[in-house]
Amino acid sequence: MRPVGTIRVAFRVIGAAAVGGLALVQASGMARGEEPSLKRLAPKGLLIGAALNARQVDGGDPVSLDIVMRQFNSISPENVLKWGAVHPAPDRYVLEPVDKYVTLGKEHDLAVIGHVLVWHQQTPAWVFAGEGGGRADRDTLLSRMRTHIQTIVGRYRGRIHGWDVVNEALDDDGTLRKTPWLEAIGPDYVAKAFEYAHAADPAAELYYNDFNLWKPAKREAAIRLVRELRAGGLKVDGVGEQAHWGVGEPPLADIEKTISAIASGTGVKVLLTELDVDVLPRDPDMWGADLSKKATIRATTNIYPNGLPDAQQEELARRYADIFSLVLKHRAAVSRVTFWGVTDAQSWLHDFPIPGRVNYPLLWDRQGQPKRAFDAVVEVLKAAR
Ligand code: XIL
Repeated sequence: MRPVGTIRVAFRVIGAAAVGGLALVQASGMARGEEPSLKRLAPKGLLIGAALNARQVDGGDPVSLDIVMRQFNSISPENVLKWGAVHPAPDRYVLEPVDKYVTLGKEHDLAVIGHVLVWHQQTPAWVFAGEGGGRADRDTLLSRMRTHIQTIVGRYRGRIHGWDVVNEALDDDGTLRKTPWLEAIGPDYVAKAFEYAHAADPAAELYYNDFNLWKPAKREAAIRLVRELRAGGLKVDGVGEQAHWGVGEPPLADIEKTISAIASGTGVKVLLTELDVDVLPRDPDMWGADLSKKATIRATTNIYPNGLPDAQQEELARRYADIFSLVLKHRAAVSRVTFWGVTDAQSWLHDFPIPGRVNYPLLWDRQGQPKRAFDAVVEVLKAAR
């Protein structure tokens, strides 16, 4: 890995200036140009994105925002477009944070992504509630889904490049996940969501998004699902693998298989939509553990509370280099890589799957300084030019 050199020192100073605000950093345009830029190094046709939270969009995190403007050409909304955030009650829409997010992206010529229309999480209980306390029936739920999609997709028509239409509809074994959507509407809820989204913005790209698509049963199911949707005349433009990965898991060969199989099996684009690399150990019991168990697991797995040691920095850098080498090898199939956050200060992985740990999953550290993983990705992109 390249040692810290003069160029690095130069943009470290700029990084510190960024604390003073975006305007200040923008004023220092020349020196800033010395830092390699992922979006400039990426091959034509490959978007490089990052998820932004509401505070970043609002200007409350100028360090991250400055990195986004220099490094990325696409943005995703970490939370503001989820049903619970944007449509918390039947007659209430919270659109201001979304308006700001979309405006920011358009002003800076970024491909603005919409995430997410239909999901079982971060969706308020009212959506699924029927009269008298039971579950809403098929027609009610379909009508709520259509209204939601028409309103949200319609409002940003022509300004959102692509939508995650349905998120996480599959279980690891390849069956449809037993969500309230499936239970109340039936398996065609997925098709309905794509139909409504296309009607609301015929030009927007539409994606199916999920995690663990490297697992064979789930991968095959996703391919089948997309083939069926397309055979039914629906527009599907891409499959997003969330790509919440670890340093050693999943094996690179499985990731590669997923990219090739989705591309050849569906003919649609493959996207890595929420890339981050968890450096902390996983405990098989950490998923859904109760509170007392969580505390124990936190104590045994929160192993780098005061900084990531050099050896692990290197490991992370190698993992990111491997991932990007694969993306470049399959550049005809992969149309976007989006990181789930900008700097380590922002990541959801500090609180998932166990709250209150210190994680290091992204390319910039908490202060907004590029990590060795950033250098590694830059080197891979440069070598491929
Ligand atoms: C996460 C956000 O990052 C967190 O801030 C929030 O508390 C929970 O959701 N899969 C997805 C994303 O599709 O929307 C999730 O984002 C991470 C997992």
